[in-house]
Amino acid sequence: MPGDESWHHAVTGDAIEPPASFAEQANVTDPDLREQSAREWPDCWSRAADLLDWSDDYDAVLGGDGPPFRWFDGGELNASYNCVDRHLDERKNQVALTWEGRLGESRSYSYLDLYREVNEFAAALRELGVEEEDVVTLYMPVVPELPIAMLACARIGAPHSVVFAGFSADALAMRMDDADSEYLVTCDGYYRRGAPVHQKNKADNAAIALDDGIEATVVVDRLGVRDGGESSDAADDAPLAADEYDYDDLVTAHRGETVEPVPRDATDQLFLIYTSGTTGEPTGVRHTTGGYLAHAAWTSRAVLDIRPEDTHWCSADIGWITGHSYTVYGPLALGSTTMLYEGTPDHPEKDRVWELIERNAVDVFYTAPTAIRAFMKWGEQHPASHDLSSLRLLGTVGEPINPRAWKWYHEHIGNGECPVVDTWWQTETGGMMVTTLPGVDEMKPGSAGLPLPGIDAKVVDGDGEPVEPGETGYLVVTSPWPGMPLSMVEDDGWFADHAPVFPDLSDYEWAYFTEDGATVDEDGYVTLLGRVDDVINVSGHRFGTMEIESAIADVEGVAEAAVVSGPHDLKGQAVYAYVSAAEDSDEAALRGRVTDAVDAAIGPIAVPDVVVFTPELPKTRSGKVMRRLLEDIANDDDLGDTSALRNPEVVGELESALGERD
Ligand code: WT7
Repeated sequence: MPGDESWHHAVTGDAIEPPASFAEQANVTDPDLREQSAREWPDCWSRAADLLDWSDDYDAVLGGDGPPFRWFDGGELNASYNCVDRHLDERKNQVALTWEGRLGESRSYSYLDLYREVNEFAAALRELGVEEEDVVTLYMPVVPELPIAMLACARIGAPHSVVFAGFSADALAMRMDDADSEYLVTCDGYYRRGAPVHQKNKADNAAIALDDGIEATVVVDRLGVRDGGESSDAADDAPLAADEYDYDDLVTAHRGETVEPVPRDATDQLFLIYTSGTTGEPTGVRHTTGGYLAHAAWTSRAVLDIRPEDTHWCSADIGWITGHSYTVYGPLALGSTTMLYEGTPDHPEKDRVWELIERNAVDVFYTAPTAIRAFMKWGEQHPASHDLSSLRLLGTVGEPINPRAWKWYHEHIGNGECPVVDTWWQTETGGMMVTTLPGVDEMKPGSAGLPLPGIDAKVVDGDGEPVEPGETGYLVVTSPWPGMPLSMVEDDGWFADHAPVFPDLSDYEWAYFTEDGATVDEDGYVTLLGRVDDVINVSGHRFGTMEIESAIADVEGVAEAAVVSGPHDLKGQAVYAYVSAAEDSDEAALRGRVTDAVDAAIGPIAVPDVVVFTPELPKTRSGKVMRRLLEDIANDDDLGDTSALRNPEVVGELESALGERD
C-alpha cells in the first residue's frame, strides 16, 4: 500500500530538456497546450477527431452529460477506411506494413497491397457468414495476416477479439465463449525459439471445449506446409475439415473484390480485448470506433511524434493492447510505415533488435522496460555494433522504468539525443494517458510525466483528496477521455462493480480508479509505483493472482494455494506460488502438475517462477490468507507485525524454504 517503505524505490533522476534539434521539428510544440486544453475541455479533443476522416460529422465532441458518455456523438466513420483507403491518393506505393519473420523472412505491403488484401479478406469473411457485430477471434502470432484480418473485420463492422498466440486452448475457449464468438482465424503453427508451436492443435482443443460450436475457422499457412514447406510434423499438415478454410485460398478466390467500408457510429464497438483484473477470470474490454481511434491516432502523433514518412516499430505483440493501438491503429491512421516483428529479441543473436532497426532505418522505437533491462544485461556492445542514427524518438510502456534503465536506453540506444517518452496507460484506457510531450516537456528519468492535454488524472489519498508533492497515493482519472471503453461509456454497472474501497471517490462527479499507486512531485510529474490490486505485472503483462490460483487449486493433490508477486531482475515481477499439499502428495510430481496446470489454463507466460510448498498458508484468526505477508516473504522485506496470525510458525518455515533456494 502507498506509504510503505518499499514504495520508494523509484527515485527520479535529474530533469533533461528535450534537445532543441528535436523540439524544432516535433509534431507538437505548443507549451500552452495543457492549459488551453483544460480551459477548452472537452472541445480540445476535436484536434484528435480532426486527424480522422468521418463519413458523417459528429454533432458534439462529447455527447450526454453522462454516463453514458458519447465521444464524437452522431459521427460516423470506418476504421479500416481511415487506416487504409484514405492514404491511397497520396501514398499508395509507400510501405504500410513491413514484416520481419521469425525464420529470417521479410515481407512488405504497400498501402495499395494492404488495401487489396484487406478488401479480399473482408469479402471472404462476408462469404463465410460474418455479419456486422459478429465477433471474430484472431489467434495467431505477429504475421501480416493478423493486422490484415483486424482491418478486414473493422471494414465490415465485425468486432475482432485478438487472443495472444501464447495463450492456451483453455484460455482461447474461455474468451470465445465469453464473447459469443463463432468465427476464428488462426494458423497451422509457428516457431518459437526454433521449436514448433502447434497453434491449430490448440485451436482444435479449444473448439472441443466451447459451449457453442465454431461456424468457420480460417487457417493461415504460417509454416508453409500445405504449400510444400519444410515442417516435418504431420500435425501441421492435417487436411482441413469442411468448416475450415485456408487463408490463401480464400483471398485468391476473392481476388480483386472490394467491400464498401461500413459506416460505424463513433460509439460502435471496434474490438474487444481481454485483460486480467482481481476476479478469477479475465474480462473483455470493448473499445469504440471513434473515440478509441482518435485517441490512438492523436497520441501516436503527439507523443510518439510519428509522421507519414516514418518507420515506426512498437515491439509489443499485437495480441496486447499496445500492439493494437501503436502497431496497428495509430501508425496506420497516420499513414506511416509500421514494422512487425515475429521473433524474439535475442534470436538468432543478441543484437537482433539493433540489426532490425539499422536495416529498416527505424525512426521511432517503442518497447518495454523488461526488454530494456535485458538489453542492458546483454551489454552495450550489441547496439554499439550497429548504426542506430535513424532513431529520432524512443518510448517505453508497461511497467515503471527504473532511472538506471531509462538512462541506459537514452544513452546507448538514443545516443543521448533521442527524447525518451515513458508512457503510462492501460488496456482500459485504450491509449496513452500520462507522459511527457517530447518536443515540449523536460524528461525526468523514472517518472512518466504529466497527464496529457485533455486528460484529467490526479494522485489522491484514501479520502480522494489530491496528495501533496512527495506523498504517495492512488492514480485516478476524474474526467472521461476519448479512448475510454464501452463499458464506461454505457455505464453498464461497470462503475458499481469497480467502485474502489480505497480511495473514496464519491466526491467526484465521475472518476475511474486505475488500481495503480503513484506519487507526484512539485511540477506535477507522476511517478508510478505499481498495482495496488491483486494483479501481477510480468514483463509488462497483466495476470490476476486469482486466475493463476484457481488453476493451481484445481490440481489433484493441492490442498490450497496463494499466488503473489516476488522480485525479478528482468521481468519486473515474478509469479510466486505458495502451495500446501494434500497429505500424501509427492512434492516433485506435484510441482510438475502445478506448472502444467497453469500452462494449460493460461499459457507458459503465467507459469510460476517459484513454487514453494508449505504445510499451511499463513492465516489470520478469521481464516483469511495473509497475502501481504506472503508478498513480503517473497520480496525478503521486513515482515512487521505477525501477531494477527493464527499459525505464526509457518512464517519461519516459509522463510527458510525460500532462503534455501538462493
Ligand atoms: C498496467 C496496465 C497499456 C500498456 C501495456 C500494459 C502498468 C503501464 C506503465 C508505465 C508504470 C505502467 C500499470 C498499469 N503500466 N505503463 N509507463 N509506468 N506502470 O497494459 O496490461 O493493461 O497493464 O501496466 O500498472 O495499470 P495493461
